[in-house]
Amino acid sequence: MLRTHTCGELRAGDVDSQATLCGWVDSWRDHGGLVFIDLRDRYGITQVVFNPDESEEMHAAARSLRNEFVIRATGKVTHRPADMVNPKLVTGEIDLRARELQILNKSKTPPFEPGTTDLPGEELRLKYRFLDLRRDELQQAMILRHKITKVVRDYFDEHGFLDIETPILGRSTPEGARDYLVPSRIHEASFYALPQSPQIYKQLLMVAGFDRYMQIARCFRDEDLRADRQPEFTQIDVEMAFVERDDILNVIDGLIARLMKEVRGEEIELPLPRYAYHDMMERFGSDKPDLRFGMELVDVGGIAAECDFGVFKNVATGGGRVRGLNAKGAAATYSRKMIDELTEFVGEYGAKGLAFFRVKDGALDSPIAKFFSEEHQRQLIDKLDGEPGDLLFFVAAKPDVTSAALAALRGRLGKELELYDPKEMNTFWVIDFPLISYNEEEDRWDAEHHPFCYPVQEDIPLLESDPGKVRAQSYDLICNGYEAASGSIRIHDPEVQQTVFDLMGINAEEAEARFGFLLDALRYGAPPHGGVALGLDRWIMLFCGDDNIRDVIAFPKTQKAADMLSGAPSTVDSRQLRDLRIKVDLPK
Ligand code: AMO
Ligand code: AMP
Repeated sequence: MLRTHTCGELRAGDVDSQATLCGWVDSWRDHGGLVFIDLRDRYGITQVVFNPDESEEMHAAARSLRNEFVIRATGKVTHRPADMVNPKLVTGEIDLRARELQILNKSKTPPFEPGTTDLPGEELRLKYRFLDLRRDELQQAMILRHKITKVVRDYFDEHGFLDIETPILGRSTPEGARDYLVPSRIHEASFYALPQSPQIYKQLLMVAGFDRYMQIARCFRDEDLRADRQPEFTQIDVEMAFVERDDILNVIDGLIARLMKEVRGEEIELPLPRYAYHDMMERFGSDKPDLRFGMELVDVGGIAAECDFGVFKNVATGGGRVRGLNAKGAAATYSRKMIDELTEFVGEYGAKGLAFFRVKDGALDSPIAKFFSEEHQRQLIDKLDGEPGDLLFFVAAKPDVTSAALAALRGRLGKELELYDPKEMNTFWVIDFPLISYNEEEDRWDAEHHPFCYPVQEDIPLLESDPGKVRAQSYDLICNGYEAASGSIRIHDPEVQQTVFDLMGINAEEAEARFGFLLDALRYGAPPHGGVALGLDRWIMLFCGDDNIRDVIAFPKTQKAADMLSGAPSTVDSRQLRDLRIKVDLPK
């Protein structure tokens, strides 16, 4: 090794010993006489002092150092003078008094410095990702990612799971996004699809007798990106045979408890809460609510139907819903202008308006209060547990619009009113999802999760009579408002599988063409099985207390699925295209 210690290692106990450090110049101060360098590596920062008395030549070289130069310095560890001790650094009690300096490499002036608090835009940082990754925050994120991945592997290993790799070049899997395709050179006009998940392969592994499988699996989905979505991301993928739903939930509960303990030193109570989908939709308007705070939605359809406010009355009596929530104590916090902004915000979720009332002593204050009798005002206050100083919001709309708009409003108010500790992690399961939902555009039923979910046994007869009511044996794990895992018990019976395909408009022929290899496997002794996949990147983001998934991925892609660093995707040379018999046909 070129060094004897790392830059985070030397302490007061090392004083008087010799050491050689290597690292990057994080900052430099030239005091005419002494030159001070903060030397950085991934372990920390150590101050190195260059004194002209040691060597004129070395001192001159030290004066030429600039940020991000890579150097090697040898010298003696000394106590810092008492007034120079830096309690913020673990190495803050000592200096390295250099005797030798070697410049291992110079650096161009970097477009931004890893130590800066005034960061440039993300695009530039992604272009210079190798510099961005030198920042302490990203270094810590990568280290945490490694730790978490290790805990995950250890946990599953201890529970008898086998880590088995599945293909990247495979066949299209139905997770609902667009596939990334890879053309085959050997098989003309044929394509591999990159896996949206190892879903089908892990089911095949169950048929093959590997009753406990896990994999840290890379998945690829060509979908619209958001702050919590990447086109290429990682799942902790799990499948088990001879299990029922709760067996899988219990295994994952154990994993979450282990992570909370090892990463945060927190004991959590198990089992994690398990709430029904309908309960969540009713109380929070979302299947992934942030339960670090309350602010439940309240239905006021009854009062709305009787009041004189036309919008409420018409919606409540015309098949829609009128629901609201109580922003406790927020009457004075939100000005009219801010409420206009909130109105615009819920508009993005389809709400045509946002009614609001400030709660006064036993009555409501609002431009539309006049349409509500004293009695109705009292009833609204009662229903929403209103107290003077509260601010009540209502949306009248189609049922799913009231859910989406109020869930979004609830999320925003929770954040703005600081109703929770941002460091808290609140995790629970949502179970009993609908198996399918009706797709009006396509006039068919679509899988809520994917088409291999087993219906709840007692709901199977409803598949014929009332498919929308069929619940799936599926489950999501929610943390702080994010869907952090998702899974189900699978269909292991080819006939039930075809019934579900039929509902989705996938006839036997098409099913055979698309999933024939899975259906065939189910006919050769498939054990009952089920599984789950956790979004590893999302978990790391949550453990970092971050809300940008790109911060926990070493080389992420932009919102437009581009890699700013390498320039991917890029054009390729015409020979490559000829080999693949591909012609690019751009619109004029
Ligand atoms: P699902 O599609 O719900 O299920 O994915 C599982 C989990 O993966 C994470 N996730 C993502 N993370 C980052 N970027 C994305 N684009 C992205 N898409 C999904 C989420 C999600 O909960 N095969 C099934 C699992 C199963 O049934 O066992 C599946 O892939 O945290
Ligand atoms: P308007 O009658 O459009 O002037 O609206 C009067 C008030 O009712 C405004 O505060 C609107 O935001 C609100 N409002 C209008 N439509 C709705 C709706 N569908 N749901 C809730 N509030 C509404």
